[in-house]
Amino acid sequence: MSVTRVRSKHVHFLWGRVSMSDWLALYWARLFPAADWSFTRAFSVSTATVSSTSGMDGKRPPFGNRHLRDPSQVFQHNAWDNVQWSEEQQSAAHKKVLENSSQPLPAEQQEEYENKASSFWDDFYTIHENRFFKDRQWLFTEFPELSSGHKSQAAVDGEQRSDSEKSKDYPGSSATYRILEVGCGVGNTVFPILQTNNDPGLFVYCCDFSSTAVEIVKSNPNYDPSRCLAFVHDLSDQSASYPIPEESLDAVVLIFVLSAILPSKMQDAITRLSKLLKPGGCILLRDYGRYDMAQLRFKKGRCLSENFYVRGDGTRVYFFTQDELGDLFTTAGLEKVQNTVDRRLQVNRGKQLTMYRVWIQCKYRKPGNSQTRHQENASP
Ligand SMILES: C[S@@+](CC[C@H](N)C(=O)[O-])C[C@H]1O[C@@H](n2cnc3c(N)ncnc32)[C@H](O)[C@@H]1O
Repeated sequence: MSVTRVRSKHVHFLWGRVSMSDWLALYWARLFPAADWSFTRAFSVSTATVSSTSGMDGKRPPFGNRHLRDPSQVFQHNAWDNVQWSEEQQSAAHKKVLENSSQPLPAEQQEEYENKASSFWDDFYTIHENRFFKDRQWLFTEFPELSSGHKSQAAVDGEQRSDSEKSKDYPGSSATYRILEVGCGVGNTVFPILQTNNDPGLFVYCCDFSSTAVEIVKSNPNYDPSRCLAFVHDLSDQSASYPIPEESLDAVVLIFVLSAILPSKMQDAITRLSKLLKPGGCILLRDYGRYDMAQLRFKKGRCLSENFYVRGDGTRVYFFTQDELGDLFTTAGLEKVQNTVDRRLQVNRGKQLTMYRVWIQCKYRKPGNSQTRHQENASP
C-alpha cells in the first residue's frame, strides 16, 4: 500500500493581531486542521499555586508566569502557564496514547514516509508559503542568546582565536557571533533575529530539508547574504555536511524540528550539531512534550512507533519527555543549562473550550575552557 499524499484543504484562520500564545495555538491548529477541540472537554481545569507575575519594564515575561488560581476565571485569558495535571487527567492521557498507538502503520508505509519526508514538507510550504504570523518576540525572552545584548564567553573566546582558525574561509568566517537554525521553515525565527540583533559581528545560518522553504527564505526582502546563509540540509542525513567548521557556532536553534525526524536518527543529529558548537556554545530547543494535545488528538492508524506519529499531510511528529531530550544532549557531551516543561492551558474564549499543551524547552552547553568563566558571568 502506498502512502497517500493529502493536499490538505486546511481551515484558514483569519489572522488578526493575536498574542503569541494565540499564535502558537493557531499555527499548530493550521498544521492539524482536524483539531479535536471537543476532546479537551474531558479534562477539567487544575490550578497551580503560584501567583501571577508580570514582566520587568513592560517586557513579555518568560513562559511560565501566568498562573490560574481560580478555575472560574479560566476564560478570562487566552492562556495559563504551569497548569498542574490531576492524576485522573494524566491517566486519561496515558490511556488515550495506548489507544491511538495500538496499531502502528506497516513497515513498508513507514519507510515511504521516511523516504519522502522532505517532499511532504515541500508540499506543506507550497500550500502555505510564508503566510504565518511573524511575532516571535518570545524568542528573545526565552533565548537571550539570540539577542544583540548577549555576548557569550564562547564568542569572546572566538574573537581571541588563533590566526589559523580565523584564516579559514567559509561563509560568515569573519563573524564573531554565529547562530545556526536547523529546520528554519520560511524564516519565522531567522528574520526576527536578523531584524532585532544588531551586533555587527553576527552571522546567521539557517537550513531546512525542504528546498521550497529555503527558496522562500532566500526570496524574503530581509534576506541579506552579508549577514545570513540559507541552505538545504537534511538534519537526519549522516553523510550530509554543514558548510561550517567544527567549533564555530555560538548557538544552534532547534524549534519544533527534532520531533520531525525518525527517533533512531536523533542522537546522531544532535551529536553532529554539538561538534559545530564552540566550547561554551549552546543548543537551544523548543519542542513537543509527551501528552501534548496534538498527541492525544491522533486517531488510531497514525502511529509509526511509540510516541511518533504521521499527520494527515504526511509530516511526522514525536512527543518527548524531558529525560529523553536530556539523554540525547548529554550523550552528545553537552551540559544542562535548562530543561523545562511548559504545561500550558490554552483557551478558545469564543467557543469556551480548553486545550492542554505540553512543550519542552532545553538549553545544553558544550563544556570547555570557557565554561567556568561563562557561568560566573551568568551569575547575577
Ligand atoms: C514544525 S516545522 C517548524 C519550522 C520552524 N522551526 C518554526 O518553528 O516555524 C518543522 C520544520 O522542520 C523541517 N524539517 C523536518 N525534518 C527535517 C530534516 N530532517 N532536516 C531539516 N529540516 C527538517 C521542516 O521542513 C519544517 O520546516
